[in-house]
Amino acid sequence: PEVRITASTAAPVGAIDRRVFGSFVEHLGRCVYDGIHEPGHPTADEQGFRQDVIDLVRELGVTTVRYPGGNFVSGYRWEDGVGPKDERPVRRDLAWHSTETNQVGLHEFAHWNAKAGSEPMLAINLGTRGELEALDLLEYTNLPTGSTLSDRRAANGSPEGFGVRMWCLGNEMDGPWQLGHRSAEDYGKLASRTAKALRQMQPDLELVACGSSGRGMPTFGSWERTVLLHTYDDVDFISAHAYYQPTGGDLDSFLASAIDMDRFIESVAATADAVKAELKSDKTIFVSFDEWNVWYQDRYHDQDIVTGQDNWPIAPRLLEDVYTVMDAVVFGSLMISLLKHADRVKAASLAQLVNVIAPIMTEPGGPAWRQTTFYPFAITARLARGEALRVEIDAPTVPTEKHGDAPVVDAVVTRDGGEAAAFLVNRHRSEPMTVRIRVDGLGSARITETHQIADDDPDAANTLEDQERVTARPNESAAIEDGVLTVTLPPVSWTAIGLA
Ligand code: AHR
Repeated sequence: PEVRITASTAAPVGAIDRRVFGSFVEHLGRCVYDGIHEPGHPTADEQGFRQDVIDLVRELGVTTVRYPGGNFVSGYRWEDGVGPKDERPVRRDLAWHSTETNQVGLHEFAHWNAKAGSEPMLAINLGTRGELEALDLLEYTNLPTGSTLSDRRAANGSPEGFGVRMWCLGNEMDGPWQLGHRSAEDYGKLASRTAKALRQMQPDLELVACGSSGRGMPTFGSWERTVLLHTYDDVDFISAHAYYQPTGGDLDSFLASAIDMDRFIESVAATADAVKAELKSDKTIFVSFDEWNVWYQDRYHDQDIVTGQDNWPIAPRLLEDVYTVMDAVVFGSLMISLLKHADRVKAASLAQLVNVIAPIMTEPGGPAWRQTTFYPFAITARLARGEALRVEIDAPTVPTEKHGDAPVVDAVVTRDGGEAAAFLVNRHRSEPMTVRIRVDGLGSARITETHQIADDDPDAANTLEDQERVTARPNESAAIEDGVLTVTLPPVSWTAIGLA
């Protein structure tokens, strides 16, 4: 079957904010300890950070990194993570039933970002704390010296401050599992008060209110409306979180997960715009899709997460999903969805970065390697620049249980001056698709590079034993003739094509 795609330069969707290529480091499992930080490792630097992991994070092209949670943040005291390391408290982390040694905190994380070439984005504990502690954290983090907390930061080795501009007002406050979970009404009021207080200290912050932790949440929609009615003038973003996995062996629905993400983004934008109308506001609220990924949550729930008073491990192996080729294809299509909504999604964070549902895996004392999902992220972050163009896709459909009839091919085209890129996914499980894209309007007539994730075995994965079983390979079929780019996409594949 043939698929026709037209990319129009006339009315682009919007400028691609580089912050959509963000990620997320939570104090969870082995993301921080034995992930980015392992003082005894042969590649560890003087601060205990693994250089091999930093090199991979740079190659991944991550722009921002959300920290320190996630569910963890709702029980976190940021003060525990600053000052002399041997004086830092050891705490029980209720979110993941683990022991937190606090050997990594704000300073270490900021230093690590400088090394990794990324920008920190901080989440504030609004589960078990309030405005005052949020103000303390901001004073410590950003303010010039001359006050007790900024002076303490200087005494702890960072006189300049960290200049963090983007802040999340809590995490997943709609979720009953969250410490301090509350109603939209209560959270909206707290988020508004906290945002106003923070802006009194530093007006130019970019603030994110908690949206829903999933489109399937019973409060989805009404949560966003209520929270935004309270916070509309105080915040810049509303967050969205989504994780996808196959359920009951339904692979066609899983492959079409990006349709759910499309609807999620469009529903949140519509709700935000309805509040805009209700409040007669001129301001537009953007979406921070600050947790997204493929996550086999059923495996996590089946796993014996440790409970009991005598079992609080340090850095246990939690949520260490091993990603397949099919997972990487779905993952690539989620990135296509984010880019197709470049006008509304101005920030996003791949959850997470190392070991925990992550593109990068490590072994203590051993190697670090790329999961299958590493490739679509790194290639998209490098090639998708400038603006996202509007595309029209004429493709056959596959029926899916969860998302109705799903076009077998999804795509987005981006353009930056004389360079362009096309990102394509074939969701069909057995048939290749030949795609023709009119590119003569793009001002780029030459293929500069092609990359593809596909395999005869869609379950193939990279593991400690076989770290490069799956890599991105060129797609030799791509060619341009008479202004039309033709490419054949194998079944269950993700492809990127660079043009100049
Ligand atoms: O990313 C894993 C967890 O998923 C985060 O801690 C939480 O915010 C979400 O439920």
